[in-house]
Parts: sequence; C-alpha cells; structure tokens
Amino acid sequence: MEVVAIILAAGKGKRMNSDLPKPLHRIAGKTLMNWLEVSLDEVKITNKIYVLGHQSEKLIKAIGTTDYVIQEPQLGTGHAVNLTKDKIKNHESIIIIAYADTPFVPSDKIKKMISQIKNGYDISILGFLASNPKGYGRIVKNGNEVIKIVEEVDTDDKTKKINLCNSGILAGRACDIYNYLNKVKKSSNGEFFLTDIISICVKDGSKVGLVSSSEEDLIGINDREDLSQAELIIQNRLRTQHMKNGVTMLDPKSVYIDASSKIQKDVTIEPNVFIGANVEIQSKTIIKSFSYLEDCFIGRKCSIGPFARVRPETEILENVKIGNFVEIKKSKINDNSKVNHLTYIGDTTIGTSSNIGAGTITCNYDGEQKHKTNIGNHVFIGSNVALVAPINIKDNSIVGAGSTLTKDVEENLIAVERSKQKEFKRRKKN
Ligand code: UD1
Ligand code: MG
Repeated sequence: MEVVAIILAAGKGKRMNSDLPKPLHRIAGKTLMNWLEVSLDEVKITNKIYVLGHQSEKLIKAIGTTDYVIQEPQLGTGHAVNLTKDKIKNHESIIIIAYADTPFVPSDKIKKMISQIKNGYDISILGFLASNPKGYGRIVKNGNEVIKIVEEVDTDDKTKKINLCNSGILAGRACDIYNYLNKVKKSSNGEFFLTDIISICVKDGSKVGLVSSSEEDLIGINDREDLSQAELIIQNRLRTQHMKNGVTMLDPKSVYIDASSKIQKDVTIEPNVFIGANVEIQSKTIIKSFSYLEDCFIGRKCSIGPFARVRPETEILENVKIGNFVEIKKSKINDNSKVNHLTYIGDTTIGTSSNIGAGTITCNYDGEQKHKTNIGNHVFIGSNVALVAPINIKDNSIVGAGSTLTKDVEENLIAVERSKQKEFKRRKKN
C-alpha cells in the first residue's frame, strides 16, 4: 500500500516576523522541516510532496527536493492540499498531511492513523489536550464521535472553551480527501480550511478516527514564543536522554545541547555550558562552567574550562587540560598536554605532554592568510609568548617567557627573544 506524505510549508509565517521562512528556523540546531522529515521517514512512506509558496527558492535549496508544488497565492491549508492532486498517481493511496510548523509528531502515532484508515475510518486526525487552546482548531465531539473542527476565528463562547485541539496531522485515502476538499467553501477569513473536511466527511455518513498524543509532541510553532517553548521541550528531552546515558549535569536546565552532539558516559557538565553542533565528548571528561564548544572532538579524561571556547575543527585527545579564558580553533592537541590560562591557539598542532604558558598567542593571521604552528612533544612554552606562524617549535624545546618568535626552534634548545633588563638608580624625592 502506497503512503504519501504531503508537507504544507507555503504559508507566510507572518507571526514569526522573520526574513527566514518558518520551516527553516531551528530547534536544537535542526530545522523545523528536518525534525518533521525525520519523523515521517520513520513511517514507511513512499514519497514526500512539499507545498511551497512564500520564499519557495530558499526552501527548495534547503530541502533539496524536486517533488513539490507551488501555491501562489496562499489561500489556506485546504487549497494547499488540493494543489497536490495531480501529483498523486494512485488515488487509492493513503496520504498523510503534515504541517511544517508541527515538527515533533511521533512516528508511532502516524502509524496508528494509517492503521485506522486501513480499518475502515475515512479520515484520521491527531489531537491533543492543550493547556491553552487559543489559536488551535478545536475538535468537537458528539459523545465519542468527532463531528467537526472549529478554527479559532469561528469559535463561539462554547467552542472557545474546548481544549481538545487539532494538531493538523491528518490521514486518509487520496480519493476521499480530494473529494471532500471539492466541497470546502471559503471560510469567514477568505481561506479554504483543510479542517472543514471533517464535518463534510461526517455529513457524508463516514467515520473520523481520533488518535491522541501529548501537547509537547504536537506543539504548533507560529511565533517566537512558540519557538522558545519548543526549544525548551527538546532541550529537556535531550538532557534527560544524556543523563540516562550516564552523563552527570550539575544544573541541567542551564546546559544547552545541540541535537547532533554525542556525549559518552561519565562525562560531567557543570552549569552554564553551551554544546553546539557536532561536538563529541568522550568518557570521564569534565566540562566546566561557561564553556562554549562547537564542532569539535574532546577525548577521554580531559578537563575543559571554566570559560573555555573550543571552536570548529578542533581535536583534543586524551587527558588534556584546557583552562580558563583559552580559545582553541582548528587545532589538534595530543595526549597529556596543557593549555591552562588566557591563550589563543589557532591552526596549530601540539604534541604530547607539552605545556603552553599563560598568555601564549599563536599569531596565525598576517592580515591576508592563515598560517600553521607546529609545537612538538614535551615542549614548554613560557608565559606571554607570541609564536608568529608559520613556525615549528620542535620536541623537548623551551621558549622563554615574553618571547616573540618568528623563526623555528630546533629540538632540545632553549629559545629566548627578549630585550635586556636594565636598571637605573631611582632619583630621590626631596
Ligand atoms: C492550523 C490548523 C489548526 C491546527 C493548527 C495546529 C487549519 C485551517 N488550521 O492552524 O486546526 O490546530 O494548525 O498547529 O488548517 N500553509 C500552506 N498554505 C496556506 C496556509 C498554510 O502551505 O495557504 C501551511 C503553513 O506554511 C503551515 C501550515 O500550513 O506550515 C499551517 O498553517 P498555519 O497558518 O500555521 O495554521 P494554524 O493557524 O497554525
Ligand atoms: Mg501553525
């Protein structure tokens, strides 16, 4: 049996007040569209058809799809679905209609809706009990039977109070849905509401099935407040999942974690830490407060921070210490090395068991190009050293405090670049 997903993403998303199309806003680093697609892909669907309109070029580029229709002008969700009619070859197929602004739909609930259609229901809808139903379509029942959905603009005093809400996800056989859609009339606000097909279906003597899920799963994102609410829901889930996997968080609520990041068991995360996209942290490492990590690998038994910034393309291997006010970019730091205080390391490789003193700067940029620094094994760099790249500081060498080096230092040597200290007699005050 063919199951086709129709994703509605043509709307202007006016309430977001944004230059970015709503489906491309992100939660835990992943776009709303991507969250929804992952969920749909867990159901065995044959293909996905997108309805695009507002800023369609940006969406086509981001989604990378060729299977779409353009809705111009956008005359409502019913109108949007109607435009996909010619794209569905087999009208016996089941279609799942999903909204790009309702991204966390659990796939098992979609499967349940599909089985309702297979078991004699004409339409299946997915509903939830909302703590504040304002803005959602209200599901009206007569006893146990769903009889209609009333949109916010059409609510009266009685329907306003209903808190059983429509998530927007709807399933049915293509032939039935397009047939009902032909009968939908313009609503009071000039749009064709998809949700009007429910009462049409019921009047036709057919059955509407209702599947329920939680408000957290079915939150619809219309404005920035909804977006922050959705972020909170996902952050809570991610933190709980990581704690289940054996990560200790001293103050979980203050830790932000991107959905793509991986954290092994027995990692400890102190309060106020940001873990951005593509971060991997291995076992027994501690990330101390106010550290900011993005696109980096941190090996076992390391100590990072407090106040460390680890930037993209950084690899920190085992038992490394990165201390306070240290920034590391596109660098590799091998086992047992230490960069403890007030330092910038960029485009650099540091060998094993080396110590980088406070205030060391790798001067990687000459105003036009970036250059590399190589620091060997067992190297000791004193405090306040500037290493002007390209430069190699070879194994077992020492660089004296305050040096500005522009030439390589060979193995086992001590390099000092420093003007001589002078002393003068102090003139006495009379
Ligand atoms: C919609 C539902 C409402 C439900 C709520 C769940 C309708 C009429 N109402 O309301 O019952 O409780 O979602 O969050 O369906 N879109 C188009 N073309 C259009 C209009 C919208 O593609 O002409 C797309 C939007 O881009 C969006 C989705 O459809 O992804 C829903 O549109 P939106 O305007 O957000 O509807 P809601 O007011 O949230
Ligand atoms: Mg919406």
